[in-house]
Amino acid sequence: MFPNVFPAIVDTLKPIIFSKNYLPKWLLFISVVSIFNSIQCFSKIGISLTKKVYSNTSAKNNNEINSLTCRLFGTWTFIACMIRLYGAIYTSNEQVYQLCFISYIVALGHFGSELIVFRACKFDKGIAGPFIVATTSLIWMYKQKEYYTGSSW
Ligand SMILES: *[C@@H]1O[C@H](CO)[C@@H](O)[C@H](O)[C@H]1NC(C)=O
Repeated sequence: MFPNVFPAIVDTLKPIIFSKNYLPKWLLFISVVSIFNSIQCFSKIGISLTKKVYSNTSAKNNNEINSLTCRLFGTWTFIACMIRLYGAIYTSNEQVYQLCFISYIVALGHFGSELIVFRACKFDKGIAGPFIVATTSLIWMYKQKEYYTGSSW
């Protein structure tokens, strides 16, 4: 079983990489990048990266960002990653498409609320990345739903 996994992954991802459609490529790209982000959360480097995202120093002083919150962040990122991977592979499936879209609503809701309500984030470089990715994906997926799934919202 195990030796067959790699060719199966290549067979699944090849059509996405060589397709003319950019949304699946984008979802795949974000998914692959976040796999590394989520793994990093389980190391010492990860904590310093997570502190760049949740950069309000008073939150840091309050010890809100510790190795546990970092691992939780890594775990949630990994789930988000899997949803986006499936979104990249099954872009024409309406339910998967919706789920992927919802994962970005959750992400935007989380970062937005940490910025405005809970204030663990500051308006800086660290939050810019996640914010731009979530917003871009939401707008893109909102506009292209009919093209990819065949049905509008
Ligand atoms: C940082 O967090 C503290 C405590 O939660 C809050 O009072 C402050 O306004 C926050 N700073 C920013 C820039 O959001």
